[in-house]
Amino acid sequence: MGIIYHQETKEFHLFNKEISYVMQVLRNGQMGQLYFGKRVPEMRSYGYLIERSRRPMISEIYENEYGYSLENLRQEYPSYGTTDYRMPAVEIAQENGSRITDFTYVSHRIYAGKPKLSGLPATYVESEEEADTLEILLRDALTGVELTLIYTVFAGENAVARSARFRNCGSREVQIETAMSMSLDLPDADYDWIQFSGAWARERYVKERKLQQGIQSVGSLRGASGHMHNPFVVLKRPTADEFQGEVLGFSLVYSGNFLAQAEVDTYNVTRMMLGIHPQEFSWCLEPGAEFQTPEAVMVYSDQGLNGMSQAFHRLYRTRLARGEWRDRNRPVLINNWEATYFDFDEEKLLEIARTAKADGVELFVLDDGWFSTRCGETSGLGDWWENRERLPEGIRGLSAKIEALGMRFGLWVELEMVNKDSELYRKHPDWILATPGRSQSHGRKQYVLDFSRKEVVDAVYEMIAKILAESSVSYIKWDMNRNITECYSAVLEAKRQGEVFHRYILGVYDLYERLIRAFPHILFESCASGGGRFDAGMLYYAPQAWTSDDSDAVERLKIQYGTSFSYPLSSMGAHVSVTPNHQLGRVTPLKFRGDVAAFGAFGYEMDLGKLSEAEHEVIRAQVAFVKRYRELIHKGTFYRLLSPFEGNFTAWMVVSEDRRQALVAVYKVLNDVNCEYRRLKLHGLAEETVYRIREDGCDKGARSGSELMRIGMVTTDDSAGERRAETAYGDFYSRIFVLEAEA
Ligand code: DGJ
Repeated sequence: MGIIYHQETKEFHLFNKEISYVMQVLRNGQMGQLYFGKRVPEMRSYGYLIERSRRPMISEIYENEYGYSLENLRQEYPSYGTTDYRMPAVEIAQENGSRITDFTYVSHRIYAGKPKLSGLPATYVESEEEADTLEILLRDALTGVELTLIYTVFAGENAVARSARFRNCGSREVQIETAMSMSLDLPDADYDWIQFSGAWARERYVKERKLQQGIQSVGSLRGASGHMHNPFVVLKRPTADEFQGEVLGFSLVYSGNFLAQAEVDTYNVTRMMLGIHPQEFSWCLEPGAEFQTPEAVMVYSDQGLNGMSQAFHRLYRTRLARGEWRDRNRPVLINNWEATYFDFDEEKLLEIARTAKADGVELFVLDDGWFSTRCGETSGLGDWWENRERLPEGIRGLSAKIEALGMRFGLWVELEMVNKDSELYRKHPDWILATPGRSQSHGRKQYVLDFSRKEVVDAVYEMIAKILAESSVSYIKWDMNRNITECYSAVLEAKRQGEVFHRYILGVYDLYERLIRAFPHILFESCASGGGRFDAGMLYYAPQAWTSDDSDAVERLKIQYGTSFSYPLSSMGAHVSVTPNHQLGRVTPLKFRGDVAAFGAFGYEMDLGKLSEAEHEVIRAQVAFVKRYRELIHKGTFYRLLSPFEGNFTAWMVVSEDRRQALVAVYKVLNDVNCEYRRLKLHGLAEETVYRIREDGCDKGARSGSELMRIGMVTTDDSAGERRAETAYGDFYSRIFVLEAEA
């Protein structure tokens, strides 16, 4: 890995064993993009990739020279208005009303390691050998604004992390209107665009279409990354698939409003951009002040979509997630939400915990409804003290009782919100985000606290830290159940109102950071009505997220499959719930539900006390299975094999780092009659190794890695007896095979 600067050609070459990223200072001083992809020799010049024909209808920079137009040049961080007519990465409004800037090269700095981004989540390194960083300083001479483009190349991953930092070194205030985290001009448009979109309870469905001339984008203006679109998109060659071919992944390490956009121009150049959504954003930069954008991570893979996902998984699991829980096995938990909703008292909770403990569950999570007057949706949010009628000895007493059972205790919070029927709101009605003179829209009868204000974050911190300090809380589920409307902060000047969305999310990050520092032993799970803020930004604070409020196993196949394109299995909260399922009314076998949830951070969302003895046996087996294989599931290499978006079957597998152990899961949604024989080609195994295959403890034979990868594993059963057993399962049929290398 390294970063080389060629003085004569003014070219920068960032590389590791697998990838190259090449840029050049253009003749007009701006930064040009030459190449991003598989490693190419680094001692050569790639300046010839700047082709300049005199195309019709272009506007030209130099009076005495034809053909020099930014419209025809591939750039690193383009602005609008000086011959480039495409969407810009930066736009700065100046005192005289102009928005034109011209950022030209001043100097650069190359150093080992990776910088922290103040107040923002970002990937990190644990030693300087893990990455090199390049900072390119550019200046807009007229305004005096400086722009630093920051690039980090990792030694061990096909990833480049990027962000931009602005500093006003001029004497006049300016307004940053657009400041993307990255922009990348690719030389052609022969890509399929994949986005991960949906809605509440059907988050991150895989949506794919051919990239076309014009603009295609996804984004959020909700104040959170949202259920609807994810701040992660893929450009894939049409011939690439899960296992081979060129793929580029773009992920934003941010949880607020975002834009992910590809603009294909008339010459099929693709401009890919990712960052804070320019709509509803502006930032007033006074002389001397700085603004840092969030980080974007770009992954290049020539091993198809799985290769790209595996790079994101490794990077995000080990160099984005932090803290004591990053590498620890996640406890098998039980959450009382779907078991009781708001209807509980201490005895009911203890009973749920006791039954779960008997089946091997390790952590009890108390969900919504434990505090103040909160016995339904309309009151209590904002008042973070216990409801003593429900919990006579408070959280302290309940957590002690849960621990006495031999379990850990977890607690639900929704710290960013307030009900109007609460002491906090009555005391501080101006603490919510609301525009003077306008109506105040609510969501679920709740309002969003103005986390752009430090005193608001301070007050919430004090309340919750008190409870955590005096109780034994090992886990926090941090929920967030509505999006922002009438966004306006009572304390900011008019010219700063465009900062509120970003300042809000900085406040959320600040509160997370303070709680993580004060209570490092707590495992945080982020949640936003399920998967409404499942993004790389959150993973920096909470190593796992509640993937979706939809716990139906068939739906979860799609949701978990889509989520896995960029987020590791260890980050996906996945629970078994009752049937008929509360979101869909669907009835599926307990085994099927468990086999789906096992490939995530596993738990239950039900009262196990209502189950039969036969069902308890299944639960005990599931818990034992997860405990035995969770290390492999969370830290192994994950391969998607068959997509739930393409047919009746889903299959995926996880292989241990040393390739001596693997799990293969196959799911069939609807039963089929008189079916074909099925073989499933496996991946990632060691060719020569012979693996013993077991299913539910039954020996299914031994096969070599090469057989399993080339011929495939038989997943239809060939004996009549077993075939009958398969038929007996009916719909929603699943199998998990354990592969273990023979000595
Ligand atoms: C939404 C979450 O996604 C649910 O799991 C549950 O915690 C409820 N909120 C509680 O209000």
